[in-house]
Amino acid sequence: MTASLTNPLRVGLRQERVISPQCLVIFGASGDLTHRKLVPALFELFRQRRLPSEFAVLGCARRPWSDDEFRQKMEEALGPLVQEDPQAWRTFAAGLFYEPVDLQKDGDVVRLSKRLDQIDRQRATRNNRTFYLSVSPAFYGSGCRALAAAGLLSDPSRSRVVIEKPFGRDFASARELNRVVTGCGQESQIFRIDHYLGKETVQNILVLRFANTIFEPIWNRNYISSVQITAAETVGVEERAGYYETSGALRDMVQNHLTQMLALTAMEAPGRYDPESIRNEKAKVLQAARLADEQEPWHCCVRGQYGPGGSSSNPMPGYRQEPGVDPNSTTETYVAMKLFIDNWRWQGVPFYLRTGKRMAKRLSEVVLTFREAPVHLFDAAGGTPTANQLILRIQPDEGAEFRFEVKAPGSGMRSRPVDMNFSYDESFGEPSDEGYVRLLADAMLGDPTLFTRSDEVEAAWRLYTPLVELIEQSPWQLPVYPYEARTWGPAAADSLLARDGLLWRRP
Ligand code: BG6
Repeated sequence: MTASLTNPLRVGLRQERVISPQCLVIFGASGDLTHRKLVPALFELFRQRRLPSEFAVLGCARRPWSDDEFRQKMEEALGPLVQEDPQAWRTFAAGLFYEPVDLQKDGDVVRLSKRLDQIDRQRATRNNRTFYLSVSPAFYGSGCRALAAAGLLSDPSRSRVVIEKPFGRDFASARELNRVVTGCGQESQIFRIDHYLGKETVQNILVLRFANTIFEPIWNRNYISSVQITAAETVGVEERAGYYETSGALRDMVQNHLTQMLALTAMEAPGRYDPESIRNEKAKVLQAARLADEQEPWHCCVRGQYGPGGSSSNPMPGYRQEPGVDPNSTTETYVAMKLFIDNWRWQGVPFYLRTGKRMAKRLSEVVLTFREAPVHLFDAAGGTPTANQLILRIQPDEGAEFRFEVKAPGSGMRSRPVDMNFSYDESFGEPSDEGYVRLLADAMLGDPTLFTRSDEVEAAWRLYTPLVELIEQSPWQLPVYPYEARTWGPAAADSLLARDGLLWRRP
């Protein structure tokens, strides 16, 4: 009898979680994600002693590297981390292997199978395998098919596949990809990754809402007047023009990361903390969400693209001047939009989403604004009393703050807003793990809670379908407004809120 990968449905998630012996196979092992995120996350897990001793990583890509060349590349990628702990690196590196594989070639897949059997014998990894598809999205479907055809997915208790984003380009392609991948194995074997769900602070939305009693009674349309969800970045497109030109901010950030934050903020309380209960509630709330104006989406969405900016000492190119970008590109690097959720909890409460590159500040947060007091008894020091706000700071300065009015010092009775602040850093002292550390461990544990189920991913695409179609069929109806690099985006996005008498938060 050999131990199989743990069945997530039978795991009490509160028990200590131990990763079974296994081989993690990374397709796209010569790529950026492997160097920047995956191998550093695995090395971190190793240093935290969370990997079993019967463990191996098999890197696969088209390049004809040897095991030693792969180890050397990964050593370079880890840089100072190796110098910090050379002994740990030597032990970890002994479990790294490489096989040149093109999943489109039958012969390569046969060779891959043999190599996996050999690694099983060498490292006692017991036929347990997690396949990570860090390849071009065009190959997700065919990659799964190749693995299934070689029999590598035939035992659901021993094999699973992790699929990177973007999962599809629109509703139809996501549904088709779901059809293909679920035809290759069971849904429980498919782990659609969204690295935002690996962030402690994103998971904290659930804990804050459902481990406290004070929030639930006011977490609804009776008390909350609007919600803002922001993911602002200061970086530009970097070296990724090839990918980004075909994606843009809507597909790159909104359909996945922002939508996940929306789902966790707005979902109903699950009956239990188990993967399906959580994912049922997320899927349900996304199915109830819609653009504020589905018939004429240009009324509820603004697109932008960064132009040159920065300072004289640190000038920044505009998006169209970035290497690899079409000088006439109309790809959006900024999106803002207004949504509604048609259910009992949220009917009529606007949810505003925005994301952009080269914004004034790096900032991801969820802001819940509460209704104003029905009668203003006191003058406000700043002119108008501010509404209460609960701000969930996803990054940086991870934490939460609550803004409320207090008496301004002095003889009068004027009110003034103050902030009550919780900081992860101050309370817990140690930095939280990178999202990939958590998610890689969860995938290898077989815990799908923080991965997106097929119905969720389809609901997320369906939500944005009117926009996707508009951009493809009549883009002039949704112009791309330029904004200066390192500002808060185009003025049109301010007007979107101004029409509702609101302002974006600019901390
Ligand atoms: C990725 C996007 O998924 O998320 C990038 O493709 C973006 O464009 C990144 O920069 C942001 O992630 P984080 O963790 O840095 O906020």
